[in-house]
Amino acid sequence: IKAALSDGPLKGRHILVTSGPTHEPIDPVRYIANRSSGAQGTALAEALRDLGARVSFITGPASVAPPEGVTVTRVETAREMQAAVEAALPADAAIFAAAVADWRVENAASKKMKKDGSGTMPTLEFAQNPDILAQVSQMPTGRPTLVVGFAAETHDVERHATEKRARKGCDWIVANDVSPATGIMGGSENAVTLIDAQGVEHWQRMSKTDTARRLAARIATALGAKTN
Ligand code: CTP
Ligand code: CA
Repeated sequence: IKAALSDGPLKGRHILVTSGPTHEPIDPVRYIANRSSGAQGTALAEALRDLGARVSFITGPASVAPPEGVTVTRVETAREMQAAVEAALPADAAIFAAAVADWRVENAASKKMKKDGSGTMPTLEFAQNPDILAQVSQMPTGRPTLVVGFAAETHDVERHATEKRARKGCDWIVANDVSPATGIMGGSENAVTLIDAQGVEHWQRMSKTDTARRLAARIATALGAKTN
């Protein structure tokens, strides 16, 4: 089976995938996180592997296990994810499915914070994390042929995602509505809107596995079309 799979349309291609949430420490025992399970990024890495790609999978602390047959780098914070992405490049394509924390706690404590008895509350100060997708999209040399971002939105999905694509400089944005009522964040299905230079495509709601297979096939076509 392995030999058959490695003969797929992505044979010889290196594809980087980020996945999962990041955790930003407050002190050694506390952190800021988000609700990403890593399910869509993991399914995508599997689908790319099944088309024969060599996959570098860079994952935050996800609740689903990373795929077999890919190179896994586990990270915790956004800055660790950035360093792991830089180390994994160059790549033919880079897919940023991770839900990266936008802010880290600038005044994180090196020892566990304790109540001091006076009722004074701690104050967290935030700093903005590096935008890994924008950084890779705008690389002056060695940019992957195809750079794909995800956009998790709770409202005005199409407008926000179209603006995001332009602002970041990526080739595609895979957008989805993560309002709690959709059950998408943490669930097993997805309903994505794909935005590329040609315009906007709404995909039916389907399993994250099927979404991943369709995206992987599309990525294979794009890489074939761009390099042949
Ligand atoms: N992303 C990233 N690094 C960050 C933040 C986001 O690489 N520091 C990537 C995500 O992996 C995703 C895309 O950027 O592919 C969009 O993430 P999203 O949170 O939707 O966009 P933001 O630019 O952070 O905008 P918002 O203010 O809506 O959160
Ligand atoms: Ca964000």
